[in-house]
Amino acid sequence: MSHAPVLLAEAMEALALTDGGLFIDATFGGGGYSREMLARANCRVIAFDRDPDAIARGAELSESAKGKFTLHQGRFGDLAAEELVDGVVFDLGVSSFQLDEAERGFSFQQDAELDMRMEKDGLSAADAVNRLSEGALADLIYRYGEDDDSRRIARAIVQARAAAPITRTLPFAKLVEDSVGGRRGARTHPATKTFQALRMLVNDELGELARGLSAAERALKPGGRLAVVSFHSLEDRMVKHFITERADAQGRGSRYAPDLPPERAPSFAIDRKRATVSSDAETAVNPRARSASLRWATRTDAPAWEELEPPALAPRAEAEWEKLH
Ligand SMILES: C[S@@+](CC[C@H](N)C(=O)[O-])C[C@H]1O[C@@H](n2cnc3c(N)ncnc32)[C@H](O)[C@@H]1O
Repeated sequence: MSHAPVLLAEAMEALALTDGGLFIDATFGGGGYSREMLARANCRVIAFDRDPDAIARGAELSESAKGKFTLHQGRFGDLAAEELVDGVVFDLGVSSFQLDEAERGFSFQQDAELDMRMEKDGLSAADAVNRLSEGALADLIYRYGEDDDSRRIARAIVQARAAAPITRTLPFAKLVEDSVGGRRGARTHPATKTFQALRMLVNDELGELARGLSAAERALKPGGRLAVVSFHSLEDRMVKHFITERADAQGRGSRYAPDLPPERAPSFAIDRKRATVSSDAETAVNPRARSASLRWATRTDAPAWEELEPPALAPRAEAEWEKLH
């Protein structure tokens, strides 16, 4: 089992690695980015991952790169560096390790408990499926999964759980598939978006991204680079708004940051407005790369802006989920 890092060369270029520099890998995963950073420059790397299995996988690198590499278990939303850093990179989402280990419950292709907790702690996807109201599930699947069949899927979930709790991935994926009338020739499995929505809720992925981007803004020194690889449009939109708003001299408000005073100085500069996507050669060998996009920006010397608020995309689901904790 392994994880093929996506947009690796492009993310490294974006970081502008330098000898003597200090860089943060916010999403260690299988360590592909961290290893490449250490190989490309005589630099130090501080890495984070919220998944205890990723931390265990990093023990060997912690040993072999002692003095240059440290790995911490924790959420990137809480990241704080003792000194300002030259670059922060995020490679969002789940790793192939998480997807391929059936018992983690992220995959609709292998039977396991419906889990999806990156930290192996707290409420699971089964809790969401069995305890949220029909309306909240429909909102969640529509807004986080961007699935137009959300109402039909939510109705089928509520009907099925009235007979017995939904606990396992494969029967759940089948339930979703049946609720929308089968595959209907679709290239992707009909449960893909529902699984994505549940994973995002269980791990508070949009909240983490908002806090992580702001934490990176505070941690970067002037001239330091922020690089983010995202895997779906909700994430990419958040990253794009974060960077472009903070690079905009007028500091105009938006739904992501409605109350910004107009005189706010830009805290980032961008060279390139468009995202970098994977090459045909990369997507041919790594299907995960298909939906990946990289955005990067350079920190200016202006103070960090106020903390980014995550968009309240599915407030009903978020409120009900909060209450379950
Ligand atoms: C796509 S993988 C990273 C792969 C890595 N770049 C590599 O080359 O092996 C994403 C990793 O980020 C971790 N992760 C996701 N959200 C996180 C968060 N909020 N805080 C810390 N780690 C997170 C996941 O547990 C997963 O291991």
